[in-house]
Amino acid sequence: MSLAPFGAAALNQTIIGEPGSRTRLETPAAVLDLDLFERNVALLAETCRKAGLHVRPHAKSHKCAEIARRQMAAGALGVCCAKPGELLALFEGGVTDLLLSAPIASPVKIDALARAAAAGGRISVIVDRADLIRAFDDAARRHGTSFDVLIDLDVGLRRSGVATPAEAVALARLVNEARGLRYMGVQAYQGRVQHIDDFEERRAGNRAMGRLLAAMLGALREAGLPPGIVSGGGTGSHLLDGEERLLTEIQAGSYVFMDEAYNSVDIHGRGGPEFEPALRIAVTVIGHSSAGFAITDGGSKSFALDGPPPRVFLAGRMVGRIEWCGDEFGRILPEPGFDTLPIGTVVECTVPHCDPTTNLHDFLHVASGDRLIALWPVEARGRSD
Ligand SMILES: Cc1ncc(COP(=O)(O)O)c(C=O)c1O
Repeated sequence: MSLAPFGAAALNQTIIGEPGSRTRLETPAAVLDLDLFERNVALLAETCRKAGLHVRPHAKSHKCAEIARRQMAAGALGVCCAKPGELLALFEGGVTDLLLSAPIASPVKIDALARAAAAGGRISVIVDRADLIRAFDDAARRHGTSFDVLIDLDVGLRRSGVATPAEAVALARLVNEARGLRYMGVQAYQGRVQHIDDFEERRAGNRAMGRLLAAMLGALREAGLPPGIVSGGGTGSHLLDGEERLLTEIQAGSYVFMDEAYNSVDIHGRGGPEFEPALRIAVTVIGHSSAGFAITDGGSKSFALDGPPPRVFLAGRMVGRIEWCGDEFGRILPEPGFDTLPIGTVVECTVPHCDPTTNLHDFLHVASGDRLIALWPVEARGRSD
């Protein structure tokens, strides 16, 4: 199902390919800088390849089937989804290898996932309790299909997963015995370390979690249930996960777009975030405040605000930072030496936090150089069900 552009995206569709179209967008509009995006995808793929790790990126950051396809073209095994609705929307968008990375409790959703598996999806799920194993097994057998299953291990996030080797072994046994399930391994997402700015501090945090994981992996091997897949990691930890050699695949999400929340993280220990801010929100200066500041047409309905304030770019130069002034508005605090921007100027802003920002936009305006070149639907936008 491909969504027909509407609203600003429908207006912008008419200028695709025109020189300078990127600076003439109707706004607010989510812009994907294709060149930076491709660089980000290639950098993660290459870093993981060198470390002997597979990539199963998290689609919670982009929610877009075209991006999932491009990640897979760069070698990803499939993608992760945070919610059944997100997974099903991407499945309808043509992505067939999908891992649901969180536990659920709805028989209706479990049934819908089994139907996707029966319709040709390779659907992987994680489990952290016996009744969930039974529910997935029943649904799979009812629909004449199967789920690939990972045991969810809590290595310090305290959100989901079992925290002891004995529990991990008990659940793995149950999965192994279930006719509708295939025991594939474990998930161990160490979310707590991802955003630690300092490289050595993050390395130490990752090692501490690695020790918990190693104990659980050892117990599974001793029980005759060696995990083929050990899935986890993110944008902040992927290089360190390569050193640790415990994970087999990396679930990084934010690296495709990047955001201000990651901009202060020294990701590869070389002093910077490594990945480029490929996702921007284009906004227009709609007026000047009485205090002389440029006011833009994007506030909390266009940006998720849970992160440091956006940088503002004009023709590739940083000209200021946004200060929020309402649900629909921002105020540009100019960089030293820059004047108040004229009314009508379209600028691009980085995003405080990419995942929930994408969730506010139906289309990505794909841009290269000074041109708008395509619109990609964000199929799973709003699908936090
Ligand atoms: C289970 C899981 N895996 C991977 C990720 C991706 O993390 P990041 O966006 O930091 O790369 C997340 C993010 O919240 C997650 O919840």
